[in-house]
Amino acid sequence: YVIQSNIWSKLWGLQFENPLGMAAGFDKHGEAIKGLHKMGFGFVEIGSVTPKPQSGNPKPRVFRLTEDRAIINRYGFNSDGHEVVHSRLQDLKSSGFQGIIGVNLGKNKNSNNPNVDFIEGISKFSDVADYFVINVSSPNTPGLRSLQNRLKLEELLTVVNEMRSTLPKRPPLLLKIAPDLSNQEQKDIAEIVQKSETNVDGIIISNTTLRRINLSNNLKKESGGLSGAPIAELSTIMIANMYQLTNGKIPIVGVGGVFNGADAYAKIKAGASLVQIYTSFAYHGPPIIAKIKSELSELLLKDGYQSVAEAVGTNAKEILLTST
Ligand SMILES: Cc1cc2nc3c(=O)[nH]c(=O)nc-3n(C[C@H](O)[C@H](O)[C@H](O)COP(=O)(O)O)c2cc1C
Repeated sequence: YVIQSNIWSKLWGLQFENPLGMAAGFDKHGEAIKGLHKMGFGFVEIGSVTPKPQSGNPKPRVFRLTEDRAIINRYGFNSDGHEVVHSRLQDLKSSGFQGIIGVNLGKNKNSNNPNVDFIEGISKFSDVADYFVINVSSPNTPGLRSLQNRLKLEELLTVVNEMRSTLPKRPPLLLKIAPDLSNQEQKDIAEIVQKSETNVDGIIISNTTLRRINLSNNLKKESGGLSGAPIAELSTIMIANMYQLTNGKIPIVGVGGVFNGADAYAKIKAGASLVQIYTSFAYHGPPIIAKIKSELSELLLKDGYQSVAEAVGTNAKEILLTST
């Protein structure tokens, strides 16, 4: 295939045609990967998938705050479960599909040992996943976000890493975090992901927020995670912070309120090597993919960058200085 101008990326030994991916939650059960790839995404992250099938929270559970360019959702991990989603991916891969697939793992609501849920996910999907995401940041599963705490997180990532080191194929492991972490929590996480015992390959920043920032729509009273334009800056600042705390050594996937090329570029300059979208796609549909990619390509060109990698983190320091 033809690599599109200056927006290709190589990470974790994977060749990304472009750095724009579909974020988790849109294709929770791995049913739309081929179509999303054809629309122009450089990678598709499916899930979150839970070990056993579960139905999630009662409806209504997703709300559009149109004038705020935002969504509030409280799906609560409705999932077809590992077995069904895994066989879907197997079928796709055996049909010759070459696109990059991330598998985002969650835990069952009634699980009494979340570490086991994640371990099962890694062992189940290691033959079909191009990368894994440990999602400890969805606000809609009680107790999940407490796995971001220092001790629990280190234990989880250590047992997960022990397990995957026994596998014949060892896809990269990413950790997806919430935008509501304190500075101390961010420091702890930066330290943990850099330990050889956890061996984390990347960080996804960020999931939805429990905060309600500058919203006018009355639906702001609905409980759940907020995404879209209102979280763009929150997420970008956190990317810059984690980039600096990890000395740029751990690739970051930036996500939160990206609607155009400038938004994507801001995340890249803050420290993201790849970018994902969900809410902007929900509002604007497939044409937004080509729009973001071509605007990003132009912006890189204008600044004289030959590739995305050259621009990663170039603005991190300045963002942190002006945000405090
Ligand atoms: C309706 C909806 C469902 C989501 N479900 C998941 C999920 O299952 N797992 C996950 O890690 N993130 C999930 N997310 C979070 C997105 O992947 C993304 O991190 C967040 O929405 C910020 O990006 P955006 O502003 O481009 O939407 C969901 C988001 C939305 C709007």
